[in-house]
Amino acid sequence: MRYPKECILKDCEEAVIRPLNSEDESLLNRFYKKIPENDRWCMRYDTTRPETVRRWIANLDNGSVFSIIALCDNEIIGHGSLHFREFGATKHVGRFRIVVMPEFRNKRLGTWILLDLIQAAMDKGLKTLRTDLVRGMEDAAIEAVKKFDFFQRAELKNYAIGPNGSSYDMVIMIKRLHSTWTDF
Ligand SMILES: CC(C)(COP(=O)(O)OP(=O)(O)OC[C@H]1O[C@@H](n2cnc3c(N)ncnc32)[C@H](O)[C@@H]1OP(=O)(O)O)[C@@H](O)C(=O)NCCC(=O)NCCS
Repeated sequence: MRYPKECILKDCEEAVIRPLNSEDESLLNRFYKKIPENDRWCMRYDTTRPETVRRWIANLDNGSVFSIIALCDNEIIGHGSLHFREFGATKHVGRFRIVVMPEFRNKRLGTWILLDLIQAAMDKGLKTLRTDLVRGMEDAAIEAVKKFDFFQRAELKNYAIGPNGSSYDMVIMIKRLHSTWTDF
């Protein structure tokens, strides 16, 4: 893929997507500080801690993550990352996460980022994409990935616990990948 890549959002605003690089640490810290707790709760790490972002930046070259950001007016407005393994039974599977700044949601930015992560997974020869989403907390993402042919492969009842202590079902959404989009 060629970066930087310009994309036009629903309201004709422009954003630029490019890979995250080692100089983006403070921009990424600023971005995650603006993401509401409910949206960060389902992530594996506390992204408001500078150590989390510092570790991501330090691991950019370790070959197991492809991380892209979307920018508007020199601020990060979206972040997507694709994670994969180099060895073992699930090395054909990529996992991903996308977060878009609340005021830029529903303008197709999540779709642009998802398209790039799918393409990156195909380029790496991955066969399956997986994302685990919490029903009731990540419904927008569940709807968004369904548009790209993800289907619910499993459901873990009452598996996740929200910030308020209540239980939520987690769904495992899967997409089979082919070598080109035309096989879709
Ligand atoms: C999920 C998320 C990344 C989507 O980003 P976005 O930029 O708003 O997504 P898009 O505008 O490209 O929307 C794509 C599709 O998702 C669906 N969608 C988006 N928001 C929705 C909502 N609140 N409710 C229902 N469907 C929704 C729609 O089908 C939409 O397609 P349409 O525009 O043709 O109607 C964003 O809501 C977000 O950052 N949420 C918090 C973090 C999160 O849940 N991440 C998921 C981990 S993968």
